[in-house]
Amino acid sequence: MCGIFGMIGNSAVGQTLTALKRLEYRGYDSAGIAVKTGNEISIYKQAGRMEQLQAIVPNGLDSTTVIGHTRWATHGEVSTANAHPFFSFNKRFAIVHNGIIENYQSLKNELTLRGISFASQTDSETVAHLVEANYKDDVFEAVKITAKSLEGSFAIVITDTVDGNLYAIKNKSPLVVGVDGQNVYFCSDIRCLSQYAAKVAQTPDNTIVVAEKNGKVTFYDFDGNTLPVKFFEPDKTEDFVHVDGDFMLKEILEVPEKIRRSKRGYFESGGLNLSAKVVHRIKRIYFIGCGTAYNSGLQVASSAREMLDIDVVPVIASEFIYDRYPVDSDTLAFFISQSGETADTIRAAEKVASMGGITYAVTNTQTSTLRYLCNRVKNIYADGEYAVASTKAYNCQLITLTLLINDIAYLKGSIDEVTHTKIIDSVDSLSIAIETVLNCGYSISKIADEIKDSSSVFFLGRTRDYPTAEEGSLKLKEISYIHSEAYPAGELKHGTLALMEEGVTVVAIATDSALIDKMASSIAEVKARGARVICVSPYSFEDVTSIKVPVVNRYLFGALSVVPLQLLAYYVAKRLGRDVDKPRNLAKSVTVE
Ligand code: AGP
Repeated sequence: MCGIFGMIGNSAVGQTLTALKRLEYRGYDSAGIAVKTGNEISIYKQAGRMEQLQAIVPNGLDSTTVIGHTRWATHGEVSTANAHPFFSFNKRFAIVHNGIIENYQSLKNELTLRGISFASQTDSETVAHLVEANYKDDVFEAVKITAKSLEGSFAIVITDTVDGNLYAIKNKSPLVVGVDGQNVYFCSDIRCLSQYAAKVAQTPDNTIVVAEKNGKVTFYDFDGNTLPVKFFEPDKTEDFVHVDGDFMLKEILEVPEKIRRSKRGYFESGGLNLSAKVVHRIKRIYFIGCGTAYNSGLQVASSAREMLDIDVVPVIASEFIYDRYPVDSDTLAFFISQSGETADTIRAAEKVASMGGITYAVTNTQTSTLRYLCNRVKNIYADGEYAVASTKAYNCQLITLTLLINDIAYLKGSIDEVTHTKIIDSVDSLSIAIETVLNCGYSISKIADEIKDSSSVFFLGRTRDYPTAEEGSLKLKEISYIHSEAYPAGELKHGTLALMEEGVTVVAIATDSALIDKMASSIAEVKARGARVICVSPYSFEDVTSIKVPVVNRYLFGALSVVPLQLLAYYVAKRLGRDVDKPRNLAKSVTVE
């Protein structure tokens, strides 16, 4: 996923660089800007972070027409040559792009046959040359022809050396348009616009947007027919915030307050929002997502299996798209996504919708593609999450999904009113329990000192603790770069036990009193083979390093037991000198398949 930005207005260079800094969470392999001055466009671009780009932009450079880009590499290595923006072959146009042009190779072959040479390995550069190749004497015509020739997901902004307009082409990848007086903005993420734009609009798929120097903005379909698009005032609370220090730690420390906000928001927004009639006919529930979002579905599916006597299936989105999972009108599918822009999850939602299932978005971003695609939507109210490693959004997903399942189970008569009410009330005590764990941050940082040089770290759990093991493992590996795996504790002896030796660390999560003896056996097995064991549990185990957690409602334990693991991952990564907010090779939301 990449971040794109474009604007017509005053101090455009400075505003674009600021916006790109905010968009860096979407990708930070390279960055660049194209600046129109008179009838010239100058491009400044650099592999690396925004600091490297800012170092090559001349002091005092200004313009009223600028486009910019932060890149997460898909086609082509991380290099300055592959950084955006790209010139067209005669430098009449420059472009930036987020997404994937799926038919770029055939387009590139045609352009090469016409004698056009390429400076990069990217799919995006093809678009720049295509616009100029299609240009005769009308830029808008050239943009329309180009738009119709592209296949895939794309949000493209084009700047023209001569007319001073900006043109955007959008299909599937996010593009927000902002206006403020005569200033016009294009951006991948509404939160990076809300401080500039008085009004914003989400660009529909298969749309061309033309922004003129006088601030006029017009939306067209690919045939050139104008489209009515509604502008609205951006939600300032979603505004981008700057913190001293790491976003990740700030976001972990916000968990107690955000889960209370999730519960309030759930009821303020009408609760389940499915009629009893619809609920009674539901025969199958899917929890579909990627990465941490998938792990939250895996966790709540464990509760749903206890509460409901219907099929409950957690599925990784990219598997769901290409495998055969039954869907009919009695199927309810929760699509879980912090960003609401994850391509795999969006494709899976499109598949369920096409098969007649009920699609329900559980997301942290209300102006997202997923939100508009689904029949229903629930905000998790975690507010802006900027660290690539998702933390508070995971806890808030668990609360929101548990409240949804709780209401479904109660409406279906699978649980009684006492259980139903107790789960709702338990969120407040859970929040206090999480605060107590956060107060153990110092002892967890000492454990991080002990395990930071581990050759591998295995996370073990049974039943509802296994999803927590998966999430703890993902957190650790994605920011510390230490190899890590999660395993159902009972499965280890069927092969993976062979990997246990000195230098390996095992983190055991044991919150179910009924399984203590089983967990004790798994711990003994790995200790006997030299592994160091850390245990997250309300209960005591012999001769292990313990992280004690309070007892909370059985259906909410996952939102508590993950917190020490979030902190442990953070402290290990810090000890290793990693960039915890922007770990290598990753991006905050992956908007390509
Ligand atoms: C989690 O820490 C990762 N950043 C990643 O797995 C993420 O959860 C996944 O890409 C899904 O993102 P989404 O919730 O925005 O759809």
